[in-house]
Amino acid sequence: MSTDQLPPDPGHFPQTRLRRSRRWDWSRRLVAQARLSPSDFIWPVFICEGQNRTEPVPSMPGVVRYSVDRLAEAVAEASELGIPAVALFPATPPEKKTPGGEEALNPDNLICRTVRELKRQVPQMGVICDVALDPYTSHGQDGLVRDGYVVNDETLDVLCRQAVVQAQAGCDCIAPSDMMDGRIGAIRRALDEAGLQHVLLLSYAAKYASAFYGPFRDAVGSKSALGSGDKRTYQMDPANGDEALREVALDVAEGADWVMVKPGMPYLDIVYRVKQRFGLPTFVYQVSGEYASLVAAAEQGWLDRRRVVLESLLAFRRAGADGILTYFAVEAARYLQQGE
Ligand code: PBG
Repeated sequence: MSTDQLPPDPGHFPQTRLRRSRRWDWSRRLVAQARLSPSDFIWPVFICEGQNRTEPVPSMPGVVRYSVDRLAEAVAEASELGIPAVALFPATPPEKKTPGGEEALNPDNLICRTVRELKRQVPQMGVICDVALDPYTSHGQDGLVRDGYVVNDETLDVLCRQAVVQAQAGCDCIAPSDMMDGRIGAIRRALDEAGLQHVLLLSYAAKYASAFYGPFRDAVGSKSALGSGDKRTYQMDPANGDEALREVALDVAEGADWVMVKPGMPYLDIVYRVKQRFGLPTFVYQVSGEYASLVAAAEQGWLDRRRVVLESLLAFRRAGADGILTYFAVEAARYLQQGE
């Protein structure tokens, strides 16, 4: 646990030499505060239609979309590496996208079929489903659009139904990423009324309107749908820190079990403040653009891949994150297994 307290007398040179603790591997390990373990990771995965398929995502080298059968295999391996949970994202075929995103409510849609299959084949793995309409809308927005504006309260009704459909398919945790006002309370009530009291709510509480989501939108195919549109009327302004605390406070009051900050590395101050202030399970999402940047630089030979991956993840832990959504989850778990 981090603390902002200094010892009463911090000492001074030459009696005090902080380099003494840093001299040996054994002493560095002994005083290390933050630690990483595969148990800290949530692995976000993309799913596509079809059988026995893996489709590379060009803007995220090394990341693929899996057909359901291939995903079960990959998730079983992640489980063996000690990763506790996966977050599922569907790439919906364009012909199933509509302005109202109705496919989100189909109990036999790609995501629901995937949840059922994973729970059958890898029951010990936690399964987290996103709630937002962007994989299903022809305009790529997370909610319903009226006169060019993403409307809040009408969207809430659809999100509640989406959440219930996914929870009925068997997911363990619902993660609303849409940033509508009041959605945590509305979804909690809808789940409870459907007898789904045990389903966890992980709120993307402080989600910023970030340019770092670009590659993700390629992966789920919402980029071309969104076109030149953006999400600034509902996702947070990157200029704001205090507002993140208000978002978290509201979501906690509305019944969020866990909260998330997103993106990750440019928002470590927010992770730190949220954890300090609320002390509840706090997650951070190392998003697609962060993944792509590190991978691209490593591919050029400009960064040491293994070291930057582990350092970036450790930094989240130091800032106070209890868990990290990262596309590096499997890779990092392997590094940790091999020993640093
Ligand atoms: C959709 C959603 C997004 C991400 C997770 N859920 C994209 C967006 O808001 O446009 C981004 C994840 C990433 O970039 O890795 N609501």
